[in-house]
Amino acid sequence: MDSELLSFRDVSYAYPGGARLSARFPALRGHAIDSVTFSVATGSAVAILGANGSGKSTLLQLCNGLLDPDSGAISWQGSPMDRSRSGLTRVRSQVGLLFQDPDDQLFAGTLFQDVALGPLNQGLSRSEVRERVQDALEKTGLSEYADLPPHVFSHGMRKRAALAGVLAMRPKLLLLDEPTAGLDPESEERLLEIMTDLVDRGVSILVSTHDLDLARMWARDTVILDRGRLAAFGPSEQMMSNAELLEATGLRRRACRSSFGEDRMAAATGFGRVSRMGKP
Ligand SMILES: Nc1ncnc2c1ncn2[C@@H]1O[C@H](COP(=O)(O)OP(=O)(O)OP(=O)(O)O)[C@@H](O)[C@H]1O
Ligand SMILES: [Mg+2]
Repeated sequence: MDSELLSFRDVSYAYPGGARLSARFPALRGHAIDSVTFSVATGSAVAILGANGSGKSTLLQLCNGLLDPDSGAISWQGSPMDRSRSGLTRVRSQVGLLFQDPDDQLFAGTLFQDVALGPLNQGLSRSEVRERVQDALEKTGLSEYADLPPHVFSHGMRKRAALAGVLAMRPKLLLLDEPTAGLDPESEERLLEIMTDLVDRGVSILVSTHDLDLARMWARDTVILDRGRLAAFGPSEQMMSNAELLEATGLRRRACRSSFGEDRMAAATGFGRVSRMGKP
């Protein structure tokens, strides 16, 4: 159950023009991912935390070969990631990526067609594709929308539609880029159930998030990125109880609430201070 599935050894990546831009604008870093080493075992539940721009989305795109590292090595199932056309097709059918922005993922004319794209590319029979699509739509609560075009959906529904497309591929490793952002509470709960069920069945999940509770309560391990570097990687319980680490990496307000206390909130909003009983 804990054989190594994916590993990064000293991986760095700069977006094209990154070095030129950072020379001109020192606030920008040359490398989006800088000398990152970590590995994921089969059946892992890992959260990736980090402030905006810390490299979470870039890291996930390196994990399924969408981006190529400039240096370092990425291994998939114990061998260097095969970057030939057929090798990458194979990796991407085993490593499913849910993009942060669902509009980067939805292309087809109807939801059914969209969710069917992955299984069709895997060369499955029509009946198997149909079964996979129906199952994924049921899991994401979208069965009744199968014949609609995804572009008429709300943002949260497009996010669930994109998730259905990834689930239908039945990947060994699922990469979820801020999957709960914009979901209503019921959809979020449904997603957490799906994620828990998949991990129980031996699928590995890497999920980027700003939700510390998700890391604390769902993920066994947590990766913390800080300006492209790996600030920490280990059991979530340890990470989440390390207040200094969370503050230093921008994951926790320095002085929660007290720095923007009720009086300042009242002044900012123009509403009077409200007591717990709802009386001024
Ligand atoms: N297409 C791009 N071209 C150039 N630079 C990029 C591109 N995408 C991201 N970057 C830069 O790479 C760095 C990491 O960005 P990334 O999107 O991976 O961060 P993130 O942790 O996912 O942030 P967020 O929490 O806002 O989603 C940032 O400095 C960003 O400006
Ligand atoms: Mg991101």
